Amino acid sequence: MQDLAIKSGSLVAPRHLAIIMDGNGRWAQMRGKQRVFGHKEGANAVRRVITASAKMGVKELTLFAFSSENWKRPKLEVSALMTLFSEYIKKEANALKENGIRTRIVGDKTKFSKSLQEQISKVEELTKDCNVMQLNIAANYGGRWDILDAFKQIITKNSQGLLNLNELNEDLVSQNLCVPSDVDLMIRTGGEKRISNFLLWQAAYAELYFSNTLWPDYDEDDLKEAFQFFSTRERRFGMTSAQVQNKDPNNAN
Ligand code: FPP
Repeated sequence: MQDLAIKSGSLVAPRHLAIIMDGNGRWAQMRGKQRVFGHKEGANAVRRVITASAKMGVKELTLFAFSSENWKRPKLEVSALMTLFSEYIKKEANALKENGIRTRIVGDKTKFSKSLQEQISKVEELTKDCNVMQLNIAANYGGRWDILDAFKQIITKNSQGLLNLNELNEDLVSQNLCVPSDVDLMIRTGGEKRISNFLLWQAAYAELYFSNTLWPDYDEDDLKEAFQFFSTRERRFGMTSAQVQNKDPNNAN
């Protein structure tokens, strides 16, 4: 079984943490400002949470920055978000490298401007040998798109003779997703309780944690609260509690 969690003091940090960063718009509107102001402040929370996650022992962090459906938002908001991503990547690239954060932008990148695609390639290349934490920024991402794309890749590889469809199994599907590893803990901020097409396959056995904190306010203490919850969970993966605790005489292990 994969290394699911890494002990950090009394808190157990998830190996793979996924976050739906929600509440930027409301945060701004509560202050009488434009929604974009909330996204800008949200970028500061992104920085804080990357640092805190790496410090607490998370090995992989996937952040939902822009969904396949977010193109439906007002044009101005979409273009402000694209500018924000581009500026963020440009500004943070060196710090990400210095802190050992291997960074990938995951999702359908073909819809992004050429210059954003170039920024993305640069940061991915710059940080490719980093090994403190893997950071996946999901942009123009949807869980259904990811699964569909994995099957398209499998079919292409089959037609090129690179794999045999008789070998099709869950591992092969996982390996062809843009984020191959299973999620251990999924957090959603901003009070809503849904997963909104995020990492559908990878979150099959994830613990789910919903926080009322609006994303721009999210900080290390909020993260610790979520890890506290995660630390109390018994992860059974379909087995009984006794089997997990290895008390059951019929336990095959
Ligand atoms: C959801 O809040 C948030 C988004 C769609 C955008 C997320 C973007 C950021 C956190 C900013 C920067 C990110 C990076 C990676 C640099 P919402 O706007 O739906 O909030 P609401 O529910 O209050 O309206």
